[in-house]
Amino acid sequence: MILSGSSEGVSNPLDPLLGARYPHSLQISVFADEGPQMSETIENLFQEGRSFPPPEALSRDANASAEIYQKAAADPQGFWVEEAKQLLWSRPWDQVLDDSKAPFYRWFVGGTLNVTESCLDRHVATNPDRIAFHWEGEAGDSRSLSYQQLLSEVCRCANGLKQMGVAKGDTVAIYMGMVPEIVVAMLACARIGAAHSVIFGGFSADSLRDRIDDCACKAVITQDGSWRRGSVVPLKKNVDDSLVGQQTVKSVLVLKRAGNEVDWQQDRDHWWHDVIPQQDDTCCAEVMDSEDLLFILYTSGSTGKPKGIVHTCGGYLTGVSSTFRNVFDIKQDDLFWCTADCGWITGHSYIVYGPLANNATSLIYEGTPDHPEQDRWWKLIEKYRVSILYTAPTAIRTFMKWGESLPAGCDLTSLRLLGSVGEPINPEAWMWYHEHIGQQRCPIVDTWWQTETGSIMITPLPGVTTTKPGSAATAYPGIDARVVDDEGTEVQRGHGGILVIDSPWPSMLRGIHGDPERYREVYWSRYDGIYFPGDGCKVDEDGYLWLLGRVDDVMLVSGHNISTTEVESALVDHPAVAEAAVVGRTDERTGQAIAAFVVLRSSVKGHDDLIGELRNHVATKIGPIAKPSSIVFTPDLPKTRSGKIMRRLLKDISEQRKLGDVTTLANADIVDAIRDGVSGSSSEDQ
Ligand code: WT7
Repeated sequence: MILSGSSEGVSNPLDPLLGARYPHSLQISVFADEGPQMSETIENLFQEGRSFPPPEALSRDANASAEIYQKAAADPQGFWVEEAKQLLWSRPWDQVLDDSKAPFYRWFVGGTLNVTESCLDRHVATNPDRIAFHWEGEAGDSRSLSYQQLLSEVCRCANGLKQMGVAKGDTVAIYMGMVPEIVVAMLACARIGAAHSVIFGGFSADSLRDRIDDCACKAVITQDGSWRRGSVVPLKKNVDDSLVGQQTVKSVLVLKRAGNEVDWQQDRDHWWHDVIPQQDDTCCAEVMDSEDLLFILYTSGSTGKPKGIVHTCGGYLTGVSSTFRNVFDIKQDDLFWCTADCGWITGHSYIVYGPLANNATSLIYEGTPDHPEQDRWWKLIEKYRVSILYTAPTAIRTFMKWGESLPAGCDLTSLRLLGSVGEPINPEAWMWYHEHIGQQRCPIVDTWWQTETGSIMITPLPGVTTTKPGSAATAYPGIDARVVDDEGTEVQRGHGGILVIDSPWPSMLRGIHGDPERYREVYWSRYDGIYFPGDGCKVDEDGYLWLLGRVDDVMLVSGHNISTTEVESALVDHPAVAEAAVVGRTDERTGQAIAAFVVLRSSVKGHDDLIGELRNHVATKIGPIAKPSSIVFTPDLPKTRSGKIMRRLLKDISEQRKLGDVTTLANADIVDAIRDGVSGSSSEDQ
């Protein structure tokens, strides 16, 4: 037994007597002798050696070159001032940053602008016919809108809203699918100075009601129904249900899209086609203060009551416009496709505001990736000659499960740059994206940010950064990111800890709607006066950042803080695995034991030998300490509606607890399947 010594002083010592009964503790002890210090805030276990320099041709013409890092480091505020000057302001600011009431920061104080003028009017003045959006419906119908057409639509809708009594300072709920009118509705609100609160079309009437009440919306914009895999989601009916007894909403504007029957409340409901087309197609843009409210967006809420994240005009547009231009290296002949939904921050920042501020042409697709077949996305890329694709790891892992023959059957040669956002991308999923979608030609920008940060914070720059699969690289110019330990001391290279952002940045959230105390408490109290995003992170020898998932998900196994991301990446590294989720299940011996849930690639069948093989694979890849004590095969994982794995639920299942709130779950039926799998499986330790 090699247990003594190495485990001394550890809160959860490995009892040497257990060794005989639990053969794995021997392996753990060997690791403890050789492994990192047990007091690490989060361990650094997974090592990834591959790296990819930027393609020369891209570097030569890139929007951002290496010197922007130096410029921004020398004078961060000066950098943001230059970025803000790219926008159209009606009055210049008097002060760049007001930090006198921190953490309630204000940017470009005294400046005025209307974001729609930067996004639309100035482009219409120079090139009215340039396409802003190509849109494809789920059934294959399509439309293209030029900047001129988009501006006219926005003005008509803005005038329609005014006619319905919506004014500057009001809040409007938008509950729609991915139709061009959702963009029109958002911009129409911005045009007249009303804040939009976009609520994802997959949310229930109850969730909708909570959000409408929270910010006292004056109007709702919706559709009769939206298309999803050939059937109709009854959006108008959900709105009706949500408004029973509701006081603040005076009007509901309804776009006819799916043609389903709807109930009608004469004094409240208006058809889009009755009200909007006959409006004047010009509408004077309301002059907004830089710090006036632009929108409220509720975080997807995998824990606790949803928070209404507040964003304002000048700083937000500065951040999204700058990052869009530099991270996606957008050029006039690019066709950009962000696959997110406008119900999430990714859709706000990189479908609507970032691309339009940069005069880009984008694709919007209404439907799901598997309708009518699982190659729909690749067909769209071929049809529209998409050059930049921005999507999420959950989608990439789903495509891995479906197999590479689907993208191989389409012409993807138009692609030149790929992006990822939403979760850590496991190195093997990164490699799959690189090989089967990017055809080894396209750099990948793994972009870390949050609803709260408004725009991308940690990312490679495609013409500058040598990328490493699984790492989001370094902070964007003008952003101050560090990794610290529990006490707030910066960790040395080669170690893990907690990500913090040291200085304020223009597109940061301005608060949680109606709850300043919660804003302080959640984001600014963990380390006094420093922004705490809630993510674990490690920094490697080259200073690259590797995001490790939410700190709440970190597992404590025999005194080691192990991130879910590292174990999941080790599992996904095995050729049989498409997707994996791990959680720490309470365990008498080790404090927590690692319970793994694994989705296999379609071509693979699960069997008992494979369980042993996967456990050993994790042990070889990152060390015996991280070996899952149980593995359950499942056809899918429980996900939030924005595609994030809901580990909290898996933990409940693993510990055989009654399940917490499942209303934010996108695929509720999978829970029973997983529960059956858990009760039928035996843990390797027993
Ligand atoms: C959380 C924020 C940002 C738009 C979509 C999600 C995780 C996001 C990455 C990434 C590792 C990531 C973090 C973050 N996350 N991007 N590239 N690598 N983790 O917005 O719903 O506000 O979620 O998503 O945990 O805190 P959100």
